[in-house]
Amino acid sequence: MTKVSMTIDGVRYDDDVEPRMLLVHYLREVAGRTGTPVGCDTTNCGACTVLLDGMSVKSCSVLAVQADGAEITTIQGLADGELHPLQRAFHEEHALQCGYCTPGMIMAAADLLRDNPHPTEQEVREGLEGNLCRCTGYQNIVRAVLRAAGPAGAAGQASTASEGAAS
Ligand code: FES
Ligand code: FES
Repeated sequence: MTKVSMTIDGVRYDDDVEPRMLLVHYLREVAGRTGTPVGCDTTNCGACTVLLDGMSVKSCSVLAVQADGAEITTIQGLADGELHPLQRAFHEEHALQCGYCTPGMIMAAADLLRDNPHPTEQEVREGLEGNLCRCTGYQNIVRAVLRAAGPAGAAGQASTASEGAAS
């Protein structure tokens, strides 16, 4: 067993874990952050995306021990009293069907907007290409991210609205 310490959604955790334990399993099974789903376990779908020291990572591709000392934000820690603008935009644009991909989409989008606050539609599609929606709800997902980005992002949407899916 190996000792790990990390902050998850503002709460400090200290635990002994097996060195092979994946971060996503630590988040769900030890820290109780079941809002972060496992969609594939093979690093393909992006459903398990969280922020690790502010950068989006697929938490099934990171060992818990690799996150030692890190600050993790999951979908459960994104809202600050009221819905995060991305959560509100996903709601307003009906950007989910089954909702399985939604936590990962929102966390990946949060990282995307941090780097590029007003992306074009194409930039949103490229930024989310590591996240799959098995319901193929990409149009509304992209629209929601552009809505959260505000008017500059919406301008990009208008110019390329007829393009295909995010990935
Ligand atoms: Fe991590 Fe699918 S569960 S990428
Ligand atoms: Fe169903 Fe995305 S809403 S997988």
